[in-house]
Formats: sequence, structure tokens, C-alpha cells
Amino acid sequence: MDEIRTPRLLLRRFRREDAPSLFRWASDPKVAYPAAWNPHSSVEESRHIIETVFSAPLTWSITLRADSGSIHAGDVVGAIGLSTIDPADRELADPAASSEQSKLALRESERELGYWVARPLWGCGIATEAARAVVSYGFRTQHLTAIWGRHMESNIGSDRVMQHCSMTVIRHASHVWMPIVHEYRDELVRRVTREQYEQSQSEQKQDGAQQ
Ligand SMILES: CC(C)(COP(=O)(O)OP(=O)(O)OC[C@H]1O[C@@H](n2cnc3c(N)ncnc32)[C@H](O)[C@@H]1OP(=O)(O)O)[C@@H](O)C(=O)NCCC(=O)NCCS
Repeated sequence: MDEIRTPRLLLRRFRREDAPSLFRWASDPKVAYPAAWNPHSSVEESRHIIETVFSAPLTWSITLRADSGSIHAGDVVGAIGLSTIDPADRELADPAASSEQSKLALRESERELGYWVARPLWGCGIATEAARAVVSYGFRTQHLTAIWGRHMESNIGSDRVMQHCSMTVIRHASHVWMPIVHEYRDELVRRVTREQYEQSQSEQKQDGAQQ
């Protein structure tokens, strides 16, 4: 898995030593709740998450390339990843894709985008910058055929981030059970296919050239 550089960010693998800076932000209920996990309760728990959940392929820590206030360059300020998608989502959108063979193929070629950012940095464009870079990496380097995403209907920030990645709403999922936080939620399921992504990129280039 490659590191990804953007103008302000370095997306890299999590390391065990990241546990204290991960805990600093992932213990915040306002970060954890919308992402449907529980706030971390100790540095040890953060270390465990690094060794398990965050050791998955295509999972990056979001770090800043320059100091920002009390946050040092290189410290973890969020996470972003392309995880395997829930086959049930895929089938609901496209029942033709429900055979065992196509499920297996889709496991490799379609992924779900997920992310979070430390609260003091919200609204600075960090998630958009990271998500755009990861979506581009997914299509150009990993040769994915589609990238999915889902967020609570009320999560305006995440809604905007996914729109910036050309991900369109393909389904309203009502009353979805969230096992970790034990509640039902109304969510929007989004997706961008490789063709849609390439089309949006060439439109943006043309708009840029005309300005
Ligand atoms: C959702 C989240 C990742 C957004 O991160 P961020 O770095 O603040 O996002 P950005 O700064 O790139 O913002 C993208 C857009 O959303 C807007 N936005 C961000 N947070 C917003 C909020 N709470 N309310 C309204 N608009 C918001 C920004 O102004 C920006 O607008 P633009 O489209 O005009 O550019 C962050 O709020 C977060 O970590 N939330 C908790 C975890 C979470 O929800 N993860 C996603 C689960 S699906």
C-alpha cells in the first residue's frame, strides 16, 4: 500500500506509536458517533484498534505535513480507508449481481470509502482533500470499478465530502441497524463508478481550461 501525498496531508499506514495521538481524537464522542463506533476509552484500546481494524489493507492515517497550532506535523489527525463493501448493499442496488461468483468478483473490484477527522480541524477541507486523493488512488492505482459510501442523512459534512468525490445517492436506506452503537439510523448510500469518475474529472478539467 502506498503513501499518498496531497498539498497539506500525508496519508500513511498507522503505527503502534500513533496510539496516543489516535486516542486524543478518537475518544471524542462527536467524532465516533456519526461514524457508528464507540469512542476509544484508553490509549491501550487505540493501540488495539491500530493492530486490528487499522491494519486492514487500504487503510491510511491522515497526518498533516506542517504544524498547526498544538498539532505537530506527522501526528495522526484522522483515518481514511477503502474497505470491502457489504454485499447486501450491492445486491439491493443491482439484483443481477447477487450470484456467488459476482459477489466474489465485487469483493475485489468495489470498495467502500470511510473517514473521520479530528474535531479541531473540521471545516478546513481536510476530509475532502484526503477523500479526493484516496478515490483517485482507488481508481487509478487499484483499478477499482466502483467506490461506495454511506452516511447518516443528517451528516451534512460527510454528504458534502462524498459529493466532492462525485458520489451520487443511489439509495435511501431507512431504519438500518448499527450493531456497535445499538441504534437504527436513516442513511444515504452513495456510489461513483470508474466511468462516472473519469467523466467528472474531464468535465472539471474542461471547466478549469475555460476559466
Ligand atoms: C464528516 C467529516 C469527516 C468532515 O470532515 P471535514 O474535514 O470537516 O470536511 P471538509 O472540511 O472537507 O468539509 C466538506 C464540506 O462540508 C462542509 N461541512 C463540514 N462539516 C459540516 C457541518 N457540520 N455542517 C455543515 N457543513 C459542514 C464544509 O463546509 C465543506 O463545505 P463545501 O462543500 O462548501 O466545501 C468530519 O466532520 C468528521 O470526522 N465527522 C465525524 C465522523 C464522520 O462523520 N465520519 C463520516 C461517517 S460517514
